[in-house]
Amino acid sequence: MPILRLDRFISNNTEYSRSQIKDLIKHNRVLVDNVVVKKSDIKVDTERSNILVDGKTISEFGLRYYMMYKPSGVVCSTDDSKSTTVIDLLPENLKDKNLFPAGRLDKDSEGFVLLTNDGDFSHKILSAKNHVAKYYIVRLARPFQADYIEKFSKGIELSNGEVCLPSRVIQWEGSQYYAVIELYEGKYHQIKRMFASVGNHVEYLFRFQIGNLALNQNLTKGSVLEVLHKELPEILKNTDTKFFEKDFQTKISSFITNIEL
Ligand code: URA
Repeated sequence: MPILRLDRFISNNTEYSRSQIKDLIKHNRVLVDNVVVKKSDIKVDTERSNILVDGKTISEFGLRYYMMYKPSGVVCSTDDSKSTTVIDLLPENLKDKNLFPAGRLDKDSEGFVLLTNDGDFSHKILSAKNHVAKYYIVRLARPFQADYIEKFSKGIELSNGEVCLPSRVIQWEGSQYYAVIELYEGKYHQIKRMFASVGNHVEYLFRFQIGNLALNQNLTKGSVLEVLHKELPEILKNTDTKFFEKDFQTKISSFITNIEL
């Protein structure tokens, strides 16, 4: 039976340090078999006990989250006989950890894909009712028209009659061929079909942010960076008021100018 001190087991399998774990315990955030734990040095049977931190089960590998900069030509799936998948791009030590993409980008789209082994979290960020925004930059074949703003805000009807949730779209201040769109759902080829409905065409699509967490601009195409547990609330944060803020515009400009779009 693998018996270990609780704080050692948590620190081995999460990013928390021993002192942070003490603090978590002090604030009743650690449960073993549904009982709030008061001491960090208790011994636990790591195979049989259910150890929860903030409601999340900690297991041997733990629940992990990685930010990937997906390049074009790669599919957001765990297995594909014809194309390279996001899993193929992972470093060897992460390939067999049951990670999967939480949401999809098209094969020819690029940008932020979250890879995780946490099904609940994935569901949370994908379900429209949880209101986690995804932000995309698109390069258009024809100039952005001012009436897109109202049309998108009313809910675009796609060519097959499906109606999208209301969404916000703005033209990037630097060019009439670039737009930024906020979505709370993920229908098949949604953005491409939305712009097709208003008579335009998406030439290039790049996701730069999920919730309030932006793609790290030091990441190179195809590489990954671990997203720490303490950063997860950023992903879930309500970003309604951020869209029109100056900082958001600065961020968009920085992505458009630093990343080859
Ligand atoms: N909408 C699209 O059309 N494609 C993507 O990859 C993401 C959103």
